[in-house]
Amino acid sequence: MTDLKGALSQTVSSVFEGLGLDASLGRVGVSDRPDLADFQCNGALAAAKAARRNPREIAAEVIAALSADPKASELFSSVEVAGAGFVNLRLSDGALTQRAAEIVTDPRLGAALNETPRRIIIDYGGPNVAKPMHVGHLRSSIIGEAIKRIYRFCGDTVWGDAHFGDWGFQMGLLILAAGDEDPRLRAIGEGAADVDLSALADLDLPLLDRLYPMAAAKAKEDTDYRDRARKATAELQAGKEGYLTLWRRFVEVSRVALRREFDALGVHFDLWNGESDADPFIPDMVTALRAQGLLVEDQGAQIVRVAREGDKRELPPLLVISSEGSAMYGTTDLATIVGRRRDQDPHLMLYCVDQRQADHFAQVFRAAELAGYAPEGALEHIGFGTMNGADGKPFKTRAGGVLKLHDLIEMARDKARARLKEAGLGAELSAEAFEETAHKVAIAALKFADLQNYRGTSYVFDLDRFTSFEGKTGPYLLYQAVRVKSLLRKAADEGSVGGPVIICEPAERDLVLTLDAFNTAVAEAYDKKAPNFIAEHAYRLAQAFSKFYAACPVLVAKDAATKASRLTLSATALRQLEMALDLLGIETPERM
Ligand code: ARG
Repeated sequence: MTDLKGALSQTVSSVFEGLGLDASLGRVGVSDRPDLADFQCNGALAAAKAARRNPREIAAEVIAALSADPKASELFSSVEVAGAGFVNLRLSDGALTQRAAEIVTDPRLGAALNETPRRIIIDYGGPNVAKPMHVGHLRSSIIGEAIKRIYRFCGDTVWGDAHFGDWGFQMGLLILAAGDEDPRLRAIGEGAADVDLSALADLDLPLLDRLYPMAAAKAKEDTDYRDRARKATAELQAGKEGYLTLWRRFVEVSRVALRREFDALGVHFDLWNGESDADPFIPDMVTALRAQGLLVEDQGAQIVRVAREGDKRELPPLLVISSEGSAMYGTTDLATIVGRRRDQDPHLMLYCVDQRQADHFAQVFRAAELAGYAPEGALEHIGFGTMNGADGKPFKTRAGGVLKLHDLIEMARDKARARLKEAGLGAELSAEAFEETAHKVAIAALKFADLQNYRGTSYVFDLDRFTSFEGKTGPYLLYQAVRVKSLLRKAADEGSVGGPVIICEPAERDLVLTLDAFNTAVAEAYDKKAPNFIAEHAYRLAQAFSKFYAACPVLVAKDAATKASRLTLSATALRQLEMALDLLGIETPERM
């Protein structure tokens, strides 16, 4: 099954070819002027330029050939030249009705599957031990989750990996801070004989939350402290038993808290691997890198030079082993690639991480290519911009700190409750159902506000706007979905069922054309790793449905066949809207 754009492109392309023109110029797109045409082909302009001819003349030849072709005349109700040489195409009702029939019975609602599925790892989320997640992790989680779902939907085998930050300098800092806090924890770290492990139970989340920022601040000012933390990091990585005992507790406590956060967001990982899981691969990797002549000594550290001739700016080398002997952020990333090769052997690894880490990934990817761990193109950084405050700088709390993800979700939930009440919604729901709906509205607001932008663009955090039930927002989409659900419930109550689609009204035409555009939106989102194409589609679909619903009575349609057709269209629009929202990781409530 191909979408209308694909079918039309094929037909027009073969006409171009028949006229001795480049077939690829026959590509058809959705019309810029829906009042004049459904689709348009701009190829005559390029063809004319190449042949130094008049584009309107070529367009006229294309139209003549299309009109003479019996298959093509079935597809179109009108074909016209417009402007400088555009070919405007209006679809026949027959072709549109046939496509509608395909979409309504398709479990994928018109979206094609990839011909050659691939194995893909998406590295996203990237939370850190003992550091509460902040808005940067929010973007990574939201975008990464959506890309994972889109790839899986298209037929790939996909693993989402949280790549938990559990092996770097912050671990050394925590070990020191825990020891300073409580002598019993220090004794555990130092591996004292007959040590009392019960103190570990006191090492809970509130304590970690307090210790880490304290230690991080101290390390900024106190070089001696910093050096000790570095040494502790190296000792932990070298396997010091007491440090490992503390570390295991840090990891355990953090994971429980993070999992709760991710669950609230509807973000789910297939692999909960951490940087530490790459540790076993490091010794052999280092030996091999050295043998390949890639690892060289530089001021006591071991580095891989990754700069290339022709680079506009010199890319610093990848630091593999620090002068204290510890593995670094880039080391664990490189070794993680080795591990993934062994375990999943993916065709592609996508890293959904803040654009500001672009240099880090360039270093890691180049080192991986040099070492032969991944062919060119198998590693890709899916960068994104920042969520900003009204001042245009990365969002900060009123006190000037980073906003914790937990607090952000809480804020959104509060606002969602208020918005629902304001709009007079949810009044009939039980307290529990109201809370569930408010949660879904809050998450939809945050996710849609993020995903409707191309991921590379930064956007301004504006909870008032995000949670509005009007405009291009998550709550608006949920509201539309709930409206259809309630319509379908009423229909079911009166025993009405759907039937074959009949297209009469312009709003029905438009709705079917919009349903058909789902395939292109999915393909585009997939190719560009950009969920905003799906977000845009969901919004257009909700709008097309809303217009249809205003113009075309459903339950009181003029005859039974029209009513049955409109019920089918409504149900299909709902299914596709929910499918698109699901690809964005957004759940719709049953009622509001
Ligand atoms: N933990 C890192 C951070 O908070 C992000 C990890 C991203 N993934 C990776 N493979 N480096 O900045």
